[in-house]
Amino acid sequence: MLVLGLETSCDDTAAAVLHDGKELLSNIINDQTSVHSKYGGIVPELAGRSHIDQIHKVILQSLKSAKVELREIDLIAVTVGPGLIGSLLVGMNAAKGIAYGLGIPLIGVNHLEGHLLAIFLQNKIEFPFISLVVSGGHTDIYRVNNFGQYKILGRTRDDAAGESFDKVAKMLGQKYPGGPIIEKMAKDGNPEAHKFPRAYLEKGSLDFSFSGLKTSVKTYINKRQTYKQGDLTDNDIAAGFQDAVVEVLCKKIIMACEKEGLTRVVVTGGVAANGSLRKAVESVCERSGFKSWFPAPVLCTDNAAMIACAGYHKFNSTPELKADLLNLDASASLVID
Ligand code: KG4
Ligand code: ZN
Repeated sequence: MLVLGLETSCDDTAAAVLHDGKELLSNIINDQTSVHSKYGGIVPELAGRSHIDQIHKVILQSLKSAKVELREIDLIAVTVGPGLIGSLLVGMNAAKGIAYGLGIPLIGVNHLEGHLLAIFLQNKIEFPFISLVVSGGHTDIYRVNNFGQYKILGRTRDDAAGESFDKVAKMLGQKYPGGPIIEKMAKDGNPEAHKFPRAYLEKGSLDFSFSGLKTSVKTYINKRQTYKQGDLTDNDIAAGFQDAVVEVLCKKIIMACEKEGLTRVVVTGGVAANGSLRKAVESVCERSGFKSWFPAPVLCTDNAAMIACAGYHKFNSTPELKADLLNLDASASLVID
């Protein structure tokens, strides 16, 4: 089965062709960094316009790169939420047009389910497992029981981890997206130079909170500017901040495993591309006798391969979905459970 996946939930216009749920034939991503970077974050109206401009080019490129004709596609999988509504509608309507024109089924995919299942593009993991989805919009811990069977165990109560990376980068005068920049700066900084606060919340909680950490970094930077107090370099701040985020994520992963009695861990979403996080999770899991997996960095950040993969599994495990596919609607605040 050939699946064409489309993803336009935020600031990446992406299309991918997937064969039989695992053989990735193409994975094209047009990121809008140059459109948004000068604003220090994503401008929704500009994101939607850029998707309109790019979507057909990206689809054609994904077919060409996969050496597949459009008429050979068997199923279209498209992100229908959560995300920016104007952006979601571009991908969804492109998908509807193609599915209607070819007379083939169309399946709507939750963006988070895409992140959760991205790991199956390269790995075979036994259910159940713990999955941390850590991105610009979400920091959620799930128990994944099977395809389509997810139990949320914890989520952020304020900022997502990726959002805090982006905000701290902005405070340090850096561009969007801040995650990869902070990671690079942290390599030249000393994480021990200043211990920024870690929020663990009430005992046993698997929820997260990153806004206190963000405020603490802001306070430090302000003091440094206004009163010339504190001697941390920007790189030390980046390293200290990253260390705080990584430590909290690692501790909550181990807590989730212990609470659920599971030993398999997947970390996914844009922040899972971070080398320090990957290393730290691997090491804490090893110490506890657990095993960890991460999608390749390019499959951690937003992409359409993960949507094609989730669509493939959803389509094959839920036959009743095949009927009313053109009635799909997008939802900015779609939930998963
Ligand atoms: O999954 P994603 O591409 O989009 C959302 O669904 O949000 O994640 C984007 C987020 C951004 O906040 C970006 O700064 C962060 O992931 N990110 C990183 C790294 N690469 C991307 N954060 C830390 N280290 C990285 N290497
Ligand atoms: Zn995402």
